[in-house]
Amino acid sequence: MSKRKERILTGITTTGTPHLGNYVGAIRPAITASKNQDNEVFYFMADFHALIKNQDPQAVHQSSMEIAATWLALGLDTNNATFYRQSDIAEIPQLTWILNCICAKGLLNRAHAYKGAVDANLAEGEDPDKAITMGLFSYPVLMAADILIFGANKVPVGRDQIQHIEMARDMGQRFNHIYANKEPLFTMPEAMVDDNVALLQGLDGRKMSKSYGNTIPLFLAEKKLQKSINKIVTNLQEPGEPKDPETSAVFQIYQAFANAEQTTEMRQAYADGIGWGDAKKRLFTLVNEEVGEARERYNELLLRPADIEEILQQGAQKARAVSAPMLDKVREAIGLRSFNVPH
Ligand code: TRP
Repeated sequence: MSKRKERILTGITTTGTPHLGNYVGAIRPAITASKNQDNEVFYFMADFHALIKNQDPQAVHQSSMEIAATWLALGLDTNNATFYRQSDIAEIPQLTWILNCICAKGLLNRAHAYKGAVDANLAEGEDPDKAITMGLFSYPVLMAADILIFGANKVPVGRDQIQHIEMARDMGQRFNHIYANKEPLFTMPEAMVDDNVALLQGLDGRKMSKSYGNTIPLFLAEKKLQKSINKIVTNLQEPGEPKDPETSAVFQIYQAFANAEQTTEMRQAYADGIGWGDAKKRLFTLVNEEVGEARERYNELLLRPADIEEILQQGAQKARAVSAPMLDKVREAIGLRSFNVPH
């Protein structure tokens, strides 16, 4: 019997514009994984999740489109990968409800994101539930549905998401236990956290993150990219003074784009006292070389939204060929059955 391919699934929350940190930490490795024929990959835009953070319709729409165009422009092969919008998969919200009915409230009380919001309210002397929606509270249930409906084995995520994968296992296990069948319906997913993937530093040297406002957007026009790179903080050392690569955000970002040889050369240049202006020029050149062609494709794609839509609809069709039969099995298991079929 041939073994089923390893099914890798991950969601991208559609808030904001992708930056170099997203690229290095998530998008680039995901696209590489999608080229490995031993894998079957499911990548989707988590636009239901985006609604939790963003209630500006135009921003929600724009971000979805930019993110879809980004992945396509960077070469995601949609013949090999199943690439879709969460909100196009009608089975996901249905399974979410079903999981809500077996998920202990106490489990969700322990979710870091929810607890963090409660703690912040308490610290400010506010009502603990202030501005907390059911969407935020039950976020992990929707995420569990995303994963379980497709029988994913591996879920590449950042460290902050590990708890959510554990919760998905919890819910899957509970379902399998309550509705014990000949064989368990849900596959237990595993979080895949890649420690080798760089957490990129931002303009101010802290982790590059939208919440710090220190990002370099991935597809900035050339001039703007150069300007943005020029804003990366450095110390006040003059050209000619040897510099420490280990404490330099410019070096750290350079390394994430460089091959081994280029990294060695740059390290030497630091020892030889390269000026900050020159180091930044080298960084710009390197980043621009890696993303330049994709940026052109990206800009072209954004002018053809109907083509993006068509690709996503094909993705949704492929995805639903998996999620629809799975939901049928779930419905059968829980007793939501047609009266026409005797049992
Ligand atoms: N919560 C994830 C994040 O913020 C995004 C996400 C939604 C996701 N559904 C998922 C990731 C399912 C993996 C699997 O990064």
